Amino acid sequence: MDSILVKGGGALNGQIPIAGAKNACLTLMPATLLSDEPLTLTNAPRLSDIKTMTQLLASLGAEVTSLQDGKVLAMSTHGDINTRAEYDIVRKMRASNLVLGPLLAREGHAEVSLPGGCAIGARPMDIHTDGLTKMGAEIDLRDGYLHAKADGGKLKGAVIDFPFASVGATENIMMAATLAKGTTVINNAAREPEIVDLATCLRAMGAQIDGDGTPTITIQGVDKLHGATHRVVTDRIELGTYMLAPAICGGEVELLGGKIDLLGAFCEKLDAAGINVEETDKGLKVARKNGRIRAVDVTTEPFPGFPTDLQAQMMALLCTAEGTSVLEEKIFENRFMHAPELMRMGADIDVQGGTATVTGVEKLKGAPVMATDLRASVSLILAGLAAEGETRVARVYHLDRGYEHVVRKLSGVGANIERIAGD
Ligand code: EPZ
Repeated sequence: MDSILVKGGGALNGQIPIAGAKNACLTLMPATLLSDEPLTLTNAPRLSDIKTMTQLLASLGAEVTSLQDGKVLAMSTHGDINTRAEYDIVRKMRASNLVLGPLLAREGHAEVSLPGGCAIGARPMDIHTDGLTKMGAEIDLRDGYLHAKADGGKLKGAVIDFPFASVGATENIMMAATLAKGTTVINNAAREPEIVDLATCLRAMGAQIDGDGTPTITIQGVDKLHGATHRVVTDRIELGTYMLAPAICGGEVELLGGKIDLLGAFCEKLDAAGINVEETDKGLKVARKNGRIRAVDVTTEPFPGFPTDLQAQMMALLCTAEGTSVLEEKIFENRFMHAPELMRMGADIDVQGGTATVTGVEKLKGAPVMATDLRASVSLILAGLAAEGETRVARVYHLDRGYEHVVRKLSGVGANIERIAGD
């Protein structure tokens, strides 16, 4: 397994281009199942998760052609559809569960393997299935698969109150409702930019959707959707991650394609910590205001709150801040696995359940560390960039799921970083 070697210490200067969003592309791709006409995505990120989704859609009968070095995905589902999403693919990537709504809407039935838990939490699908049941689906779990059947072969509109603003459930229900009979209203819907991006694409395909980006989304079902071309929104999590690089190492970096309104509460926390974020005509410019980072308290919340997908990276920054920070993880029950690895680098962190208390130290020290999940892996690279000596991050296959060309992007602004093939 590959690892990444980082020699810390230097300030970073220059520009980093930000790719299209993994978490938008992973919900936009299943939308091809909603129409027999072509759907083309541009600005697609080149990631192993996108390859897994391509494999899944192909197993369901879709044609997915990757063009322009993977930045364009030309998709079409005009032939027969296989409505069974196999465990062997689904277990590799939870987002595979986003084919459930589209398959049910198009074919009236679906058999989707339950993804099971992952490193950061149990991640059940009850909000998805309760919503689809309200729309007239009969769903039961057999042999690890959700067997779903729409009453009379067609879903019907319903008023659905979510107990929690789940991103995945909002996406699944929104897609399912586009072809349902009547009107669906989702109350307490997720408001993430990826939801707005999906709604924008579905509207381009002829769907009738209002309220995306607010807690109440209304979808008027239509008989048929047509083809479209859609540009994937910028990846706000990749953006936030690279904004922390000059913050943790010093220097000034411009993030090409970055926008402040994609980041919600994240920018307010950077400002409070002593980091300047400035909009430019190409994106965002980031640098420390002066001297050392200040401690800040952070609580993860659904958008526009502080994103849980930037919690690990923010912890890496706060390890060298002046003072003590309290981080509360409110979205996932087990998302502090990067803390013991950062402590191997000399960080002072006390984890109690969903709360981590980080007391800043002068300097981190390089060490061999282990990536446990996608965002934890990049937080260790950020910490290595600021540490004395060498840090070797093992199991970087986690990283490949959500970050394209990390070594090229960071060495492009002066980082001393390289990828080491197979141990
Ligand atoms: C999406 O996951 C993202 N993944 C996650 O990013 C992100 O962390 C998460 O939203 C929150 O922002 C993709 O978009 C592919 P949720 P999702 O449904 O849809 C509980 C990354 O690093 N819940 O909003 O699975 C659930 O267990 C990944 O890129 C239920 O209890 O998130 C979790 O605790 C990691 N029942 C919380 O809600 C349900 O039916 C948030 O889940 C659904 C969710």
